Amino acid sequence: MSGKIDQLTPRQIVRELDKYIIGQDNAKKSVAIALRNRWRRQQVEEDLREEIMPNNIILIGPTGVGKTEIARRLARLSGAPFIKVEASKFTEVGYVGRDVESIIRDLVDLAVNMVREEKTQQVEAKAAELAEERLLDILLPPVHDPQQLESGDPEAEESYQKWQRVREKLREQLQSGALDNRKVELEVPANTSPVMQIISPMGVEEMGMNIQDLLGPMFPKKTKRRKMAIPEARKYLIQEESQKLIDMEDVVKEAIERVENAGIVFLDEIDKIAGEEAAHGPDVSREGVQRDLLPIVEGSNVLTKYGMVRTDHILFIASGAFHVSKPSDLIPELQGRFPIRVELENLTTEDFVRILTEPENALIKQYTALLATEGVKLDFTDSAINEIARFATEVNERAENIGARRLHTILTTLLEDILFNVPDEKMKSAKITGKDVKKTLKDIVEDEDLSRYIL
Ligand SMILES: Nc1ncnc2c1ncn2[C@@H]1O[C@H](COP(=O)(O)OP(=O)(O)OP(=O)(O)O)[C@@H](O)[C@H]1O
Ligand SMILES: [Mg+2]
Repeated sequence: MSGKIDQLTPRQIVRELDKYIIGQDNAKKSVAIALRNRWRRQQVEEDLREEIMPNNIILIGPTGVGKTEIARRLARLSGAPFIKVEASKFTEVGYVGRDVESIIRDLVDLAVNMVREEKTQQVEAKAAELAEERLLDILLPPVHDPQQLESGDPEAEESYQKWQRVREKLREQLQSGALDNRKVELEVPANTSPVMQIISPMGVEEMGMNIQDLLGPMFPKKTKRRKMAIPEARKYLIQEESQKLIDMEDVVKEAIERVENAGIVFLDEIDKIAGEEAAHGPDVSREGVQRDLLPIVEGSNVLTKYGMVRTDHILFIASGAFHVSKPSDLIPELQGRFPIRVELENLTTEDFVRILTEPENALIKQYTALLATEGVKLDFTDSAINEIARFATEVNERAENIGARRLHTILTTLLEDILFNVPDEKMKSAKITGKDVKKTLKDIVEDEDLSRYIL
């Protein structure tokens, strides 16, 4: 098993999450425990290990308070295969009959790419070497006859030596970039014929299989010759060589193992499939979707194009606002599979101040960086930050509570002029004070209609 999370203790996981998400300590703690428990499970002796089920979690909380953000960050930091799906999409028209098993198939695809990417990096240096040799072969094809050379023919020996000297000179030029404008011709796969795509039947597509893959052995892949500049050719050859160096069977095996033991599925908007059936309208049965989800959450085998995948130990994190419905409106079987419930809190003005400034991706940092590209030094005074946070709280109370998302709208409104005027108007710096914030926002905030549209 690889994945950085293996080395992180629950405290460390929380500390990592703290870099991006303000507050929500309970939620961070729960996901940290769930992740560490997975690692702990791996260490348990086999018989018992199979009995230990993941701590599936439901994150409950109003919109814009960090539910998705926590899951997203967790995925990045864990290096585990991670997929986010909106549970509600399975009830939408057009998705009718689209099986929820596609979640697992997508997750496996993702894991295969992830492992392949890692392996590609491991063989990168070797592949680059091989690609260089191939480029040299193209630029200066071997002239000598191996048999003559073998027999010790002095003429052949001499021409070989000469060939090698030229080759080494070319190598220097190649490495220095002196040949970058030169074009070479390479054999590349021709596009799959359009006919194949048209006849591809729905069912096969649904299975996640590609008709070319199925028919592949019967129709050898066509190739064509293409001219490209050296840098492009080099990239292409490196890719081709690393593909040869990587054993796809190993990749698939490892990817499936990773999905089965470390995969995370984030089921967003789970509340939208809970509760009363819509009396009419386009919704298909919400309960139906819950029943469909049950086997994969409970643990079953899903057929993917890479083989069977067991879902028993995949971690499911569900999330929803649960304004209208409650977790207890889910069918009991599904409730039972999400034993951990965590409520996220509403964000306060103080939280907003911190969200604006502290996270590594804080909005103020983002806009400061954006304007720095135009040579403008953007500065917010403390009172400006406080005012922005205060306005955000006020508008959330008056209009709709959209949590930290309100900060986005307020900041874009506040900075619109600067963002528009730069760089046509020359400026070196822009200082935003509390007064400026008040001046720009007060009228909008006080006019309820205006704030509804603008903020
Ligand atoms: N506690 C927080 N700390 C830092 N940033 C936050 C926090 N909560 C929300 N944000 C920011 O607000 C935005 C929306 O948050 P997020 O997507 O997590 O909302 P959510 O809780 O999933 O809402 P929804 O129920 O609408 O899906 C993100 O850009 C995120 O960076
Ligand atoms: Mg969300």
